[in-house]
Amino acid sequence: MNKPLQAVRVWDLPTRCFHWLLAVCVIGSVVSAKIGGNAMVWHFRLGYVVFALLAFRILWGLVGGHWSRFASFIYAPSTVLRYLRGQALPREQLDVGHNPLGAFSVFALLILLAAQVGTGLFADDDISNTGPLIKFVSGATSSELTKWHKNIGQWLIIALVVLHVAAIVFYFVGKRQNLVGPMLTGDKLLPAHVPASADGARARLLALALLVGCAALVGWLVSLGG
Ligand code: HEM
Repeated sequence: MNKPLQAVRVWDLPTRCFHWLLAVCVIGSVVSAKIGGNAMVWHFRLGYVVFALLAFRILWGLVGGHWSRFASFIYAPSTVLRYLRGQALPREQLDVGHNPLGAFSVFALLILLAAQVGTGLFADDDISNTGPLIKFVSGATSSELTKWHKNIGQWLIIALVVLHVAAIVFYFVGKRQNLVGPMLTGDKLLPAHVPASADGARARLLALALLVGCAALVGWLVSLGG
């Protein structure tokens, strides 16, 4: 007999806000870089917001809601293989949070975005814009970091975002799974025994405090450049 389903909170509000803010800021920073000129002020601002968001997500991956924790979506290679062969064990809950493929793209996105922010801090476009921390590296190092930032780093992120959205469309059309709804409302229809992510006032206040701390840290780091 099928177990009755009920709405279970999977994506807590901080994770959902993180996701949609990150998406807006990443798209905005690509667009502002393409426009160039005066729009570069926005490229810098959005880059700093992405920096603070990434720092927040690292902390939230350690102390956030159950399904936002890294521990819930770091999979052993054998589990990934079983998932790909459609042989998940009944006790495994691979489709509740990030499934093994989704987890791979999440980590790849987070790492590439961190590399993009990190290289941007030391970049120099040889015209009028330099990263805020450029004075801490040699010209040669800055030029290597700029190369990554403007070439491979940028294109890898664009490719991964396209793949990310394509995968979500594939799950919707091919597998009849709506992943976007839960990223908006937080809930999935699941058997009652599936653990929910904590998403009460305490968790949200903690997230806010962490985000403010991360923003302050980014502000301080950027100010070191003078
Ligand atoms: C620049 C654009 C985007 C970036 C950088 C991005 C990045 C991410 C990241 C980092 C996560 C993991 C969330 C977490 O655990 O914290 C994620 C998940 C997700 N994103 Fe995006 N995203 C982007 C655009 C979009 C768009 C346009 C959609 C909707 C079509 C979307 C739908 C989703 C969904 C549904 C998930 C959850 C996937 C799952 O259930 O495993 N994303 N995204």
